[in-house]
Amino acid sequence: MAIDPNFEKNRERIDDDGPVAVWGPIDPPEKLGIHGTHVAVDFDICLADGACLEDCPVDVFTWVDTPGHPESELKAQPTHEDQCIDCMLCVDVCPVDAIDVDPGRAGRI
Ligand code: F3S
Ligand code: F3S
Repeated sequence: MAIDPNFEKNRERIDDDGPVAVWGPIDPPEKLGIHGTHVAVDFDICLADGACLEDCPVDVFTWVDTPGHPESELKAQPTHEDQCIDCMLCVDVCPVDAIDVDPGRAGRI
């Protein structure tokens, strides 16, 4: 299952004081939702492959610890999504289609 590109319509944004918005539902540590808006990563699909961190030319992603998550205990957070240049490399290289990038979606407001 790939990330839902219509998550803004289909999910509810949860107030969060982290670096990016979180789109629920969440039920930590097993269910963590979608993180980011312009660059969105479905934490419940990400299995910490790492290709997005290695390949992004402007270092949008950083690792975060997610102990207890069934897929992986590390996730790629789009911490610097405001730096994204829409090259779409991350979308292409993620082996489980956990990432969606849309230049029309604003980042954290
Ligand atoms: Fe980086 Fe992906 Fe944007 S590779 S520049 S976050 S489209
Ligand atoms: Fe995760 Fe895909 Fe990146 S599995 S670490 S979002 S390449």
